[in-house]
Amino acid sequence: MSVTTLSAHQPITAQDGCRDPVMLNSWHVVGFATDFVPDTIYPVRLLERDLIAWRSAEGTIHVWEDLCIHRGARLSKGWIKNDRVVCPYHGWQYDGTGRCTLMPAAPDETPMKKAVAFPYRAVERYGFVWVCLGEPFEDIPVFPEWDDEHFLKVHNGPYNYAANGFRAIENFIDASHFPFVHAGLNGVMENPDRLEPYEVHEVETGLRSSEVQVFQPWGDARGIPLMAFYTYYAFRPLVAYFSKRTQQADAKGDIVSEESDLFTTFFTAQPVDEKTTIVRVCAAMNMQPHPDPKVVRDRADVVYSQDREIVETQRPERIPTELRYELHHRTDLMGQRYRTWLRAKGISYGVI
Ligand code: FES
Ligand SMILES: [Fe+2]
Repeated sequence: MSVTTLSAHQPITAQDGCRDPVMLNSWHVVGFATDFVPDTIYPVRLLERDLIAWRSAEGTIHVWEDLCIHRGARLSKGWIKNDRVVCPYHGWQYDGTGRCTLMPAAPDETPMKKAVAFPYRAVERYGFVWVCLGEPFEDIPVFPEWDDEHFLKVHNGPYNYAANGFRAIENFIDASHFPFVHAGLNGVMENPDRLEPYEVHEVETGLRSSEVQVFQPWGDARGIPLMAFYTYYAFRPLVAYFSKRTQQADAKGDIVSEESDLFTTFFTAQPVDEKTTIVRVCAAMNMQPHPDPKVVRDRADVVYSQDREIVETQRPERIPTELRYELHHRTDLMGQRYRTWLRAKGISYGVI
């Protein structure tokens, strides 16, 4: 893992797009680590800002504004030469620190001190690339199973939602949609789960629910009926997580095994803009034997595409954090508390 240095100067394009300090000063996932290989420049969009990502030959990931300070051309249209970003307009070259090292029209001159690109903090963690456009006020949240070798990890996505990121998160921490949106997989439409009262508390890592119990006819990659006990977390406004404890059940929903397995999911939402989101997740599971990762991924592709389709229908697209605009039942407590929590953080971007 490596962190690029942050330049103090701000690009003129910082006046575009999101001005919400909470969003600007948070870490956001912009890709899987494996998406970025050396010698290529990748355009990335975050909070309505155009960025580039590129990887140095020795492995460091860089995320910069997609802007050349000389005349404002897009660096994403350029290329890499000798481990430097070459601007496509006048060929200025920028090294991994963001400094201009060559102006081809004046090759003998040392470039001006201000001839620097606009780098942001960029870090790789849990197989994701994270970026902060401002000054991060908290660290990237902990993925509890990441370092536990008993857990198989499977990355899923990207899933492109034409929808709001907070709506995507709220859907992820919602258990009462399973029988309808994921009928036959995570629930049974003809026999929806009755959700018992549960609690939500603010803890050090964010918001946490108590266990929510549901029956799942095809609860994970094993393809077997499970009784599932979900503990939901909102770690950050756009990073959520659940830990699902499962016990094997019969087709009627009676538990048939004493032991529990764990299936957890670390869910990230990249806010491209207020109404466009890229979801990337990492699932971790400890059942023995470990399932085939391809089966895990195929099932996730189905489930998240079902979620995407419903979340894309929600209106208004920006999530209402004032509770009076929608209806909140006790079974929605996690979503209700999530909205209040966003509001208390003073978030103004992507909400109404
Ligand atoms: S605009 Fe980039 S080198 Fe001129
Ligand atoms: Fe869902």
